[in-house]
Amino acid sequence: MRTSADLTEESMAHLLEIFPECFTEGRIDFDKLRATLGEEVDSRPERYSFTWAGKRDALRLLQVPSRATLIPCASESVNFDQTNNLFIEGDNLEVLKLLYKSYFGRVKMIYIDPPYNTGNDFIYPDNFADPLDTYLRLTGQKDNGGNLLTSNPESSGRYHSAWLSMLYPRLFVARQFLSDDGVIFVSIDDHEVHNLRLLMNEVFGEENFVAQVTVLSNPKGRVLGEHFARSHDYLLVYTRNALETELSISKTPDEVDAQYQESDENGRHRLLELRNTHRQFGRFNRPKLYYSLYINPTNGEVFLHPEKGFIDVLPIWDDGFEGCWSWGREKASRERQLLIGKAIGGKWKVYRKAYAIGENGDTPRKKLKTIWTDKEYHTEKGQEALDELIPGRVFQSPKPVALIKTQLELCNDLDALVVDFYAGSCTSAHAALELNCEDGGNRRFVCVQLPEPTPEGSEARKQGFKTIAEVGKERIRRVIQKMKKESASKLDIKTRDTGEDLGFKVFKLAESNYKPWAGVEDKDSNQYAKTMDLYTDPLVPGWKPENVIWEVAIKEGYGLNSRIEPVPGVKGNAVYRVTDPDKAQGFRLCLDDTLKPATLKALNLGKDDIFICRDKALDDEGAANLALQCRLKTI
Ligand SMILES: C[S@@+](CC[C@H](N)C(=O)[O-])C[C@H]1O[C@@H](n2cnc3c(N)ncnc32)[C@H](O)[C@@H]1O
Repeated sequence: MRTSADLTEESMAHLLEIFPECFTEGRIDFDKLRATLGEEVDSRPERYSFTWAGKRDALRLLQVPSRATLIPCASESVNFDQTNNLFIEGDNLEVLKLLYKSYFGRVKMIYIDPPYNTGNDFIYPDNFADPLDTYLRLTGQKDNGGNLLTSNPESSGRYHSAWLSMLYPRLFVARQFLSDDGVIFVSIDDHEVHNLRLLMNEVFGEENFVAQVTVLSNPKGRVLGEHFARSHDYLLVYTRNALETELSISKTPDEVDAQYQESDENGRHRLLELRNTHRQFGRFNRPKLYYSLYINPTNGEVFLHPEKGFIDVLPIWDDGFEGCWSWGREKASRERQLLIGKAIGGKWKVYRKAYAIGENGDTPRKKLKTIWTDKEYHTEKGQEALDELIPGRVFQSPKPVALIKTQLELCNDLDALVVDFYAGSCTSAHAALELNCEDGGNRRFVCVQLPEPTPEGSEARKQGFKTIAEVGKERIRRVIQKMKKESASKLDIKTRDTGEDLGFKVFKLAESNYKPWAGVEDKDSNQYAKTMDLYTDPLVPGWKPENVIWEVAIKEGYGLNSRIEPVPGVKGNAVYRVTDPDKAQGFRLCLDDTLKPATLKALNLGKDDIFICRDKALDDEGAANLALQCRLKTI
């Protein structure tokens, strides 16, 4: 049986790399590790920690590798073979585990909008003993023995714990997906914001907390609320590494017009005082930034050396406080042409020119405030956008498109890979597609959504959407249609090839194509022999080649944008080449029961080539020879 990456194994490998001396026979020796770390180990009986009932089980869940797979579903996709956008139907934890190897460290932005735990939400009933079984029963693919789709009522003794246990492993894996400069945004409200902060501090590190943004989502306020009419939500922002990340958005043309009013032969600019405007910095703690600059009063030119008639200027405040410049001597000398002296109210000051358009075409950016009140962020805007595409309210309270577009803009990366693993109606896919159309970006999205049944008798059901996943996919299809229409009408050409990725491919979580291992460990028993007989063919009856190829690719760590093509020039066997364009890696694979010598000759495998075939396709001698020739793996 093939499974996804084993996270415990990977953590052990990291530890082994750093502390080889603390391992004996492949196992960790805690006493040695403790001794190595000495004073850094906190062994006080009372120490600050965040815990809840079930935390340990939630961690165990993380350690169970997924035995599921993802199967492609071209008929529900748009442009399956070309697109790099993905929609994956399934439980997000199983899906994240399966994608772990291929997406590790590659994602620029994660946005999630998990259930807020209002008491009425459905909280996924994880079961670490058999996660896939839970999923199959929940989605009606296996006999359901009891309703698993119940909500988590406030009266439950484990109301907060159940929610935390659900989110903890998912955030934990998600963090591994982020690139060094990656960022995660999480929508939440008062029910769990306090717990979510603590949880995220634990998973991402307190030092990577960036902001708790308050979003005015309902300006009228919830009239049904007690004491107050609640009118806001939150967006928690954490980074993988705060020191590597910069979050800002472009200034609007109006802001640029208002702020950049000077101009010279190099373009529009504004003048910023070179003196550091913060009083906590000055000669007393930045002595190297305290030096004289010399201004030629006839034209304002600034020099680092004195000359007759030049004005000597020091970064001294009006009240005599000895401040400092914001540039050192070296930078001031290198960028001297950006400096200019001006006499304001009879006092000479040094300014630096900040151009509206930088040397590499960058436009000015600004930090966003931590309260977002624009009407585009109101919940009703989210509803309007979905209702316009699919009339009739098929999903309640989707997030506003602008809320996610702003997050994408904050990341300032036109090629960002964006993941939303609580996708709902897929607002994040909508936002990424729309923003790409507006700014020529090439952002790619991965949306993961449970096929949660839509309520009986709901408008969604009436329109034929059996699950929320179906709503999400249909929304993406309609956004794509709308964009194709708009871009065609803009140029008045019906089939314009814009180079935009107006497609998405659908995968679904499913049982593995490999037979599950029944787990008989006693090698001398009859049962063991019988079980082994069953495994002479490790694949399930009725397996489909395409599904097996994808499963092999996923579990080998290949991304879902891998390309699968028949290898040309091979007669007598069906051989496929799988390549992952994002990782520049590939392998060849044949699922036939026998391998013809002519096939191996035509493939001409070298020692770096990976070749995967059925175990039964080779006899012992053939396998030994091939293993010497290339990197052979068998099924
Ligand atoms: C609040 S909604 C997200 C709405 C979304 N932001 C939008 O704008 O449409 C949360 C979604 O997460 C889904 N969900 C809950 N548990 C899940 C799980 N374990 N795996 C995948 N999706 C899940 C629910 O079905 C629900 O649709």
